[in-house]
Amino acid sequence: MNVIVVIGSQWGDEGKGKIVDLLSENVDIVVRYQGGANAGHTIFVNGKKFVLHLIPSGIIRNDILCVIGNGVVLDPHAFLNEISLLNENGINTNNRIKILPNTHIVLNYHKIIDTLNEEQNKIGTTGKGIGPTYTDKYARIGIRAIDLFNDEYLRSMISKNIQTKNALTKNLHTDSLFDYNQILEELFLVREKLKPYIVKNAAYVAELVRIGKNILLEGAQGTLLDVDYGTYPYVTSSNPTIGGAVTGSGISSRYISQIIGVAKAYTTRVGEGPFPTELKNEIGEKLRTEGNEFGATTGRPRRCGWLDLVALKYSTLINGFKSLSLTKLDVLSSFDEIKVCTHYKIDGELIDYFPIDIPTLNKVEPIYKTFKGWRKSIRGIKNFENLPNEAIEYIRFIEDYLSVNINIISTGYERDDTIIV
Ligand code: GDP
Ligand code: IMO
Ligand code: MG
Repeated sequence: MNVIVVIGSQWGDEGKGKIVDLLSENVDIVVRYQGGANAGHTIFVNGKKFVLHLIPSGIIRNDILCVIGNGVVLDPHAFLNEISLLNENGINTNNRIKILPNTHIVLNYHKIIDTLNEEQNKIGTTGKGIGPTYTDKYARIGIRAIDLFNDEYLRSMISKNIQTKNALTKNLHTDSLFDYNQILEELFLVREKLKPYIVKNAAYVAELVRIGKNILLEGAQGTLLDVDYGTYPYVTSSNPTIGGAVTGSGISSRYISQIIGVAKAYTTRVGEGPFPTELKNEIGEKLRTEGNEFGATTGRPRRCGWLDLVALKYSTLINGFKSLSLTKLDVLSSFDEIKVCTHYKIDGELIDYFPIDIPTLNKVEPIYKTFKGWRKSIRGIKNFENLPNEAIEYIRFIEDYLSVNINIISTGYERDDTIIV
């Protein structure tokens, strides 16, 4: 039993990159299991900043093999650019990155359609072609990494796709028509560059588990953005939750030994959709400034609010978290009062479950418990006992409410700003 899974427990950007980097010290392989270049995972090591979109966060540490799982949708250009950027920054990627053969490929038309869809039906997507690529996957008209080398299939699929996609864009009153020859030419070029990374065996990771390798499965996005469990339709098009880790990597659930949730000490969200504890006032702005809450992929300001334990409990149940990593606790250091939402009130009635329909979520009133702030810097503290009493009280309350252990507390963006409990 040597597989750990790291999952976002809120609406993404919980600090998964930092936690994966930390935990990957003791693993051989890091696998990304869903999402695509919509993700932005930030890691700071000795003042140097890395933002990873597609490549697993394990790449920052030498000797770790990084695998892009079949649950991911891979944009070849974003992938190749990311490798160049890593190399320019002194990271050796040689023989360290593999792509599973059944990983679906994001094409240019997916990105264009993503943007056009937003004009009709605004979700606030990252515009990276994620939804349209997963749509094609489930419609059984997608192109997988391995299919790039099957000329007959590739030609026939691109031809079919072009017809339907051109019809679609015509309906949307746009003239950005897609050209068969141009797309094929581009794919022929790109496939040569991708070839060294693509493995033939879809059970590649499964084999590595069987021979006893230690593996970390890295989730992107978060539970409340999950297409099944999130605030649908304001979600991403994949399963960041635990099931996605299994189907998106080819690792049997029987090997999973630990499922770790990453939770920010408050809450943020990017894009449209309900957010019960959102603060559209100076407190929300202070959280954004102190926490530097701007998207790692699109640079958009993140919406900010207090910690929502109703939502976090839901996420804990769905994923079966026994342990959480709590990040950005330092951001709360300058607040006189800190609130956490313990219940929702709907039509005068208190509820303690997370409703998943938009009209209900839009009208819930969050009920808060107020904590006294600690009003001093906690960065650099290495032992739990050395945290201010008010911070310990905050953490203990979260643990008790959720019945989980908080085993990692992050007190700054650097790798070392961490308390291991
Ligand atoms: P991810 O998508 O879950 O990997 O998270 P992002 O990288 O998008 O966003 C988290 C942001 O918070 C990044 O800028 C991190 O460098 C930063 N960060 C992570 N942990 C901490 C922490 O404990 N304190 C502070 N101040 N920043 C943190
Ligand atoms: P990481 O891995 C935060 C959000 C978008 C939008 C919705 C759908 O860094 O936590 P998409 O482009 O996926 O179709 O957009 O999901 N979103 C994220 N929000 N962090 C992310 O990734 C996100 N990836 C997508 O803002 O609301
Ligand atoms: Mg992010």
